[in-house]
Amino acid sequence: MQIAIDGPVGAGKSTIAKECAKRLGIVYMDTGALYRAVGVWCEENGVDAHSEEAVAAALPGISPEIQLSGRVQRVFINGDDITDRIRTPGASMLASKVSSYGSVRAFLLDLQRDFAAKNSVVMDGRDIGTVILPNADVKIFLSADSKERAKRRYNELIAKGADVNFDDVLADLEKRDKDDSSRACAPLKRAADAVLLDTTGNTFIESVDRVMEIINSKR
Ligand code: DC
Repeated sequence: MQIAIDGPVGAGKSTIAKECAKRLGIVYMDTGALYRAVGVWCEENGVDAHSEEAVAAALPGISPEIQLSGRVQRVFINGDDITDRIRTPGASMLASKVSSYGSVRAFLLDLQRDFAAKNSVVMDGRDIGTVILPNADVKIFLSADSKERAKRRYNELIAKGADVNFDDVLADLEKRDKDDSSRACAPLKRAADAVLLDTTGNTFIESVDRVMEIINSKR
């Protein structure tokens, strides 16, 4: 079974997808982690993430890998577990940048499709329903009001001890959404056959229940 959940930053994709995968007894894959890992690897290895040419030239030397430790996904680049270094606001912006490059998207395509071919999966991202798994059994496009999404993201970062302020989080989120939706290659957009679910005002459990209803109605 393949379930595609796409949507903008902070719509609750990862927490909702993770919980649905658990209830269904299948695997969850966070595809954003791959773009984050490539962006952070570039930064750590002196590759200019703002130059597609430089990033594309580095790709043959990058070997990303997803491993599951129980239900927790870990991302490796060339054998180095990079998972704990990809959740900073800086990593978010780097991921958004490198994800706009066709070379990077093509590079990460097979890894994502192979994973879905080998596992029943709930996969979240921006282009899962449109590009990665166009024949997914269920496609959901999750959204919510941008202030509410920024508030959720802000709370997550504060809970992790990050030193951030709300206005910066909101501005970063709006910039990322704009960049992710307007890029030429595989932009963030709802697949024609995806169910649109707006989670504004919903609690986490309400959102999970609504997603599960959609999944159950399709299988
Ligand atoms: O979901 P996330 O915040 O971890 O994603 C980080 C960035 O990666 C996001 O700004 C856009 C990009 N991304 C993408 O282009 N396609 C995906 N399937 C997942 C993420």
